[in-house]
Amino acid sequence: MPSSQDPVIDLFQGWPSPSLLPTSLLQAASQTLLSNPSLSTPSLLYGPDPGPSCLLEHLSQYLSKFYSTSWTSSSRLTITGGASQSLACILQVYSDPSYTKNVYMVSPTYFLACRIFEDNGFAGRLVAVPEDQEGIDIQRLEELLARDDLENGWLDARATKRPLPCQKHFKNIIYCVPTFSNPSGKTMSLGRREQLVRLARKHDALIIADDVYDLLHWNPARLGAAAMPRLVDIDHTLDGGVSSPYGHVVSNGSFSKVLGPGLRTGWTESTELFALGLSKCGSTRSGGSPSQFTASIIAESLRTGAFQQYLDHVLIPAYRQRSAMALEAVQRYLLPHGVVLVTIKDSNKANLARQMCAAVEGGYYIYIQLPKLLDATRFAEQAARQENVIVGSGENFEVVGDEASVPIKHGVRICFTWEDEHRIVEGIRRLGKVLEQAMAKTGT
Ligand SMILES: Cc1ncc(COP(=O)(O)O)c(C=O)c1O
Repeated sequence: MPSSQDPVIDLFQGWPSPSLLPTSLLQAASQTLLSNPSLSTPSLLYGPDPGPSCLLEHLSQYLSKFYSTSWTSSSRLTITGGASQSLACILQVYSDPSYTKNVYMVSPTYFLACRIFEDNGFAGRLVAVPEDQEGIDIQRLEELLARDDLENGWLDARATKRPLPCQKHFKNIIYCVPTFSNPSGKTMSLGRREQLVRLARKHDALIIADDVYDLLHWNPARLGAAAMPRLVDIDHTLDGGVSSPYGHVVSNGSFSKVLGPGLRTGWTESTELFALGLSKCGSTRSGGSPSQFTASIIAESLRTGAFQQYLDHVLIPAYRQRSAMALEAVQRYLLPHGVVLVTIKDSNKANLARQMCAAVEGGYYIYIQLPKLLDATRFAEQAARQENVIVGSGENFEVVGDEASVPIKHGVRICFTWEDEHRIVEGIRRLGKVLEQAMAKTGT
């Protein structure tokens, strides 16, 4: 039983704000769709494999503008049932556990991805790769790939799946969240992105980039534009363009974080051949593109501009405000007790005020490191027990099966979207109390 009488504040839940869910946008779009048989009939039947053309077209226009990519087109996209479902389909088509060697995951990682890899035959073959301020530790990844290439026999193993002529199996998989990462909030630098693409090409690796937070970007100097080129765009342009018709990157996008996860709709962008192969995934061929109905509703909201309005004038201003308040509270209640802000490049106190405005430029999370004497998992338990505050911590973000390689002992993730503003600040204030007591016990 929690000793505190205060209401529970959940800073763990990586969900969108319930008070901001776009119900009127969805109501208007559904109304239009369902009142017109030429729209409603196809939306309620099986759809084409790559997804309904209405969403493919409107989305490709939207993405071209947001990412400044003249090459984005419907034929490079597939509509999915969200990033999780899509990850499973990508693995079904483009990996074979008796041929594909390992899955290299940036650690701390989006923990729920681990089970999707395990379901697809990679249990015991998830390899943790640390990240530094620029993103994935490329030197370590290179060493690991080189080490694993030398293992005897593996590359001669016979694949058990039967890829179609428009499909292939990659020898390695690299999984990352390059922009506004979950959980660290970091954005991989441009240089690191280029190194990563080159490494993937060298080792026949497919980079699966969960780009699910990209659209939530609020740096005032670049409103309405992406924080960074996606890895899939770098693969398109780097060193003369893709080195194989499949490319080496698939961008995994989602409407979950911007409209609502209940819609279960997302998209991928890749080369045309990769997209074709992905759209021929068995479950898609049998059932048609997933989320045919909700995808058609979303297409309608893009067509009218309601989606763009909602994102630019409702969601982004609200999340920008929440992130700023959360940062201020972290500065006030946590930093004095020795906490380091990981999401920010240099959380040295002298520089912090200067960095604050640019510190969190998007996404859902702030990630902090507790002082070395404190264990994050124990701290989270204490926060829940004493103060009714829930946070994600330590073990939650380790790569399953390879925890020892990159142990997460001191990391704590604070989500600033789920709770309303004053509750975020109050939650962080309570975390400060727990921290103060814990530090007092260490005698420092
Ligand atoms: C990095 C990352 N990928 C995927 C997802 C899940 O996305 P979807 O709801 O589209 O399946 C999340 C949700 O938290 C996430 O943080």
